[in-house]
Amino acid sequence: MPVGARGALPGWLAAADLDPEWVAGALADTGNGGRPGGITNLPVPGRQPRSLVAVGVGDATPAHLRSYVAVAVRRAQTLAEHGATRLVLPLPEGAGPEAVRVAAEAVVLAGYRFRLTSAPHPPRLARVVLVVPGAGPAAVDALHRGLVTAAAVVWARDLVNTPPDTADPVWVAEQAQARFALHERVGTTVLGPRQLRAAGFGGLLAVGGGSDRPPRLVLATYVPATGLRPHVVLVGKGITFDTGGVSIKTTAGMRQMHTDMAGGAAVLAVLDAVARLGLPVRVTALVPLAENAVSGAAYRPGDVLTHVGGRTTEVRSTDAEGRLVLADALAHARLDLAAEVLVDVATLTGAARTALGARTGALFTTDDVLADDLLAAGAAAGEPWWRMPLAEEHVGHLRAQLDSPVADANNSPGAPGATTAALFLQPFTGGLRWAHLDVAGPARAAGDAAELVKGGTGFAVRTLLRWLESGVSEPVRPGTEDPGAAPPGVTGSAAAAVGEEATPWQDWVTRPRTS
Ligand code: BES
Ligand code: MN
Ligand code: ZN
Repeated sequence: MPVGARGALPGWLAAADLDPEWVAGALADTGNGGRPGGITNLPVPGRQPRSLVAVGVGDATPAHLRSYVAVAVRRAQTLAEHGATRLVLPLPEGAGPEAVRVAAEAVVLAGYRFRLTSAPHPPRLARVVLVVPGAGPAAVDALHRGLVTAAAVVWARDLVNTPPDTADPVWVAEQAQARFALHERVGTTVLGPRQLRAAGFGGLLAVGGGSDRPPRLVLATYVPATGLRPHVVLVGKGITFDTGGVSIKTTAGMRQMHTDMAGGAAVLAVLDAVARLGLPVRVTALVPLAENAVSGAAYRPGDVLTHVGGRTTEVRSTDAEGRLVLADALAHARLDLAAEVLVDVATLTGAARTALGARTGALFTTDDVLADDLLAAGAAAGEPWWRMPLAEEHVGHLRAQLDSPVADANNSPGAPGATTAALFLQPFTGGLRWAHLDVAGPARAAGDAAELVKGGTGFAVRTLLRWLESGVSEPVRPGTEDPGAAPPGVTGSAAAAVGEEATPWQDWVTRPRTS
C-alpha cells in the first residue's frame, strides 16, 4: 500500500475494508510519514491477505516510485520465504504510463538475485500484480516496454555476475549467439583469432594473447523493417577478467575485475531489447572480448600495436587494455561497418570512479545534441550521467601527453585519467558522431539500493534503450540552428567536417583498406 508525502493514504482503503483511521494511527506510531522507501508492517488478523505493508511513495516521482516498488518487492520476497506467493502492488492514484514502466522495471530489477550456492534457492514470489487506477492501452504498452527493458538488464547483470572461470570470451560470445538466434532481424557473427588477424585487430589480439582462453569479437546487427538510418554502432568493452597483465594489479585491485566486461554486456542487452521491441532504428552491437592475463605469451610494455585502420599504439601499461580493444572496434565500426553514430560503453578508468563515485556514469562527447539526448534518456531511465569536458579549451593541452616517440600514441597518458582515455579513443572515431560512456563506477553496486542489487547493475542499458526509442536525432549543423536543414543523405558530422577547419586531433589514419 502506498503512503504519499505527509502520510497521505490512498482513497480505496475503506472500500478494501480497512479503517483509514486505524491505518493512519499505525503509521503515525511508527513514524511512517510517506518518505520514499519507508516501511511499516500492518498485520491484519482474520483476513486475506494477512499482511498489509505500508510503503512510502513520497511525491510519486519516478525516483520515488522506484524506491517504493523496490522496498515493497524486497519485503515481499522475504515474506515469500515464509509462504507468501503473491504481491499485490497498487500504484498511487494518477499513475500514468511512465509510472507503469518505471514500476515494472523496478519490480523485476529489485527482485533480481544471482546465486551459485549449493543449497536450494529460497522460495520466490510466484506473481506480482500491479494495480493501476484507470489504466488504458498506453499503460499496457508501457508495461511491455518496461518488462522487455528489465529482462535485458537482467541478462546484462547475469553476464556480468557470472564468474570469470565460466564467463570467458568464448562463453560470452555463445550466450550472445544463443540469445540473438531467437530474433529474426538480428544477424550475429563471431570472429576468432584467425579472422581477427585478417581484419587487423592488433589491439584485441595483443590484449587477449596472454590467455589460454582466446579472444572473440561479437558483431550483432539488427536490421529494422523501416528506419535504416542512421546506423548506430554500440561498442562495449568485453574484458572477461583484467589482471592488469604484466603491469599486474594488486589482489585488491583485481578482485572485481570479472565485471570488466560490463560495457560489452550492456550493449548486447540493448541490442536484445531493441530487437524485441522492433524499434525503427538500425543498431549494431560490437563487443571485443578478451581476458587480460599474465603468461609467457602476454603482451608487454614496450610493444607497439597496429590497430584496425593502421593507427599504432605504444604500450606503456598492459593494464590500460580497455582502450586498446575499443580502438580496434571503433575503427572497425567506422571503416568496415559504415557506422554513422558511435557510442561506446566501458569500465575504462578508475579515474572516472574516483571523480564521480559509484552511482554516476561519465559521458564524453563533443556533440551537444548527442550529449543532451543521452542525458535526457539517462534522467528518464533513472541512470544518472555527468557530462565531462572534451572541448578544445578544456582538453587541447592534454593531447601532448598521448605522444609517443615510436607510435601514433601511447596508452598510458596520465591524469586526468578518464579524460586522457577518451582522448586516446577519439582519433579512432574519425570525426563521426560519438559518445564515450565510462561506467567504471556505476557498473557495479556495493550493496542493494532501490532497484539496484549488489553486484553487476546493467548500467547504461536503460539509458541507451530510451535514447534509441526516442529516435536518434540529427546533429545541429554548424551555421544553422535547424537540424532539419541537412541535405538529404547527410546525417553524420563527418560530412559536416569536410572543408571546415580541422581541429588538431583530426590526425586519424585514413589509409584505404586493402581487404
Ligand atoms: N578495468 C580497469 C578500470 C577500472 C578500475 C574499472 C576500477 C573499475 C574499477 C582498467 O582496465 C584499468 O586498469 N585502467 C587503468 C588505466 C591506467 C593504467 C592508465 C586505471 O584506471 O588505473
Ligand atoms: Mn586494466
Ligand atoms: Zn580493464
